Amino acid sequence: MRMYDIIAKKRDGKELSDAEIRFVVNGYVAEQIPDYQVSALLMAIYFNGMTEQETASLTQYMAMSGDIVDLTYFGDFSSDKHSTGGVGDKTTLIVAPIAAACGCKVAKMSGRGLGHTGGTADKLEAIKGYKTNISGDEFFNIVNKVGVAVVTQSGNLTPADKKLYALRDVTATVESIPLITSSVMSKKLASGAKNIVLDVKYGSGAFMKTKEDAEKLAQSMVNIGKLCGRKTTALITDMNTPLGFAVGNSLEVIEAIDVLKGKQKGDLYEISIALAGNMIALANNISEQEAQDKARRALDSGMAFLKFREWIVAQGGDANCIDDTSRFDTAAYSMEIKSSSGGFISCMDCEKIGAAAAILGAGRITKEDKIDLTAGIILSAKTGDYVGFGDRIATLYSNSKEKLSEAAAIYKSAIQTGSAPQRSPLIYKTIK
Ligand code: URA
Repeated sequence: MRMYDIIAKKRDGKELSDAEIRFVVNGYVAEQIPDYQVSALLMAIYFNGMTEQETASLTQYMAMSGDIVDLTYFGDFSSDKHSTGGVGDKTTLIVAPIAAACGCKVAKMSGRGLGHTGGTADKLEAIKGYKTNISGDEFFNIVNKVGVAVVTQSGNLTPADKKLYALRDVTATVESIPLITSSVMSKKLASGAKNIVLDVKYGSGAFMKTKEDAEKLAQSMVNIGKLCGRKTTALITDMNTPLGFAVGNSLEVIEAIDVLKGKQKGDLYEISIALAGNMIALANNISEQEAQDKARRALDSGMAFLKFREWIVAQGGDANCIDDTSRFDTAAYSMEIKSSSGGFISCMDCEKIGAAAAILGAGRITKEDKIDLTAGIILSAKTGDYVGFGDRIATLYSNSKEKLSEAAAIYKSAIQTGSAPQRSPLIYKTIK
């Protein structure tokens, strides 16, 4: 088999065989195929797409390129959740303990934030003592005993995705539905869960800017999950407004704890119930409605909060911070942003809001950047809220005084006021 012929075949719009895809994935990971040939193939895939069968082969060979976590011990109850990334998206911190309180076994590998989006692993590290890097045995034991553990992606999970993603990033081939599908789903397959709930976001703060593209991606991921023997559901959700009010690591953890303690409802509460409900429905083979009722009871009764506390303590986190969130470290400087006009907030550019938070220190521009866990933004008004001239619309936090003005200018440019906007539903569609 020659890589040249495979590139030419895809360039001409033909379907690659399973053997050809295996040759590419294995050869690239073994460094037998150079970056320039894989780049050419990625661009051919970008333009000509892949059939469902090709996408399934690619996903499976990527998943098999490294370690596979074995969760068969947990039978039908191993459950995972994945978000395609957003601003203020701290749902894992709420959803995982709700699902665990309802009997799911959540063994989760989480990523770090990059660009304008946050990552769960960074958020958890804002809790003093929490260890995101524990041994495989410890991870397994905590899932078994508590029902939930969340760690960073371990060393040799899907090395094919690490190499391919890095190459896509520099060859303008990230935004391809079969390539995103195989990247996300290979990690989910290798992480071992039987049940997978995907939160596919669309809008100004998401990868997919339109509902239509998000739906295509969601459908593709659900199809592949099912083809590979996993129960998979995708929720297509709105990311034109940040979720909740906090953006930035420790600020988001505090907000998640407030929701778990029953102090905050709204969009973050509702989306958490929907995501956890779908995990519970898949694991227990019950209707979505029944599962959502269970999720709501677990959250409203405080059971989910107790499960959260148990999980955090099991991974070394300081329970005092959980019980009293004023113990979290805080940023040295803050700045209030006032509205320079009156009217309804008609539109928020989430990507800019995420970028403002990153400038304050909450995010990374490159993977090596160190982040400031206390930096971020607390929103005082969101899309649809009425604000008067001079009203506070947000407060910025940072340990770098100089960054405040730069971030403030970006934040202001992200907010438009005008007449009352038509609110889109938080959950646009569920694909099963
Ligand atoms: N997230 C991933 O893990 N992979 C992609 O390709 C896009 C988003």
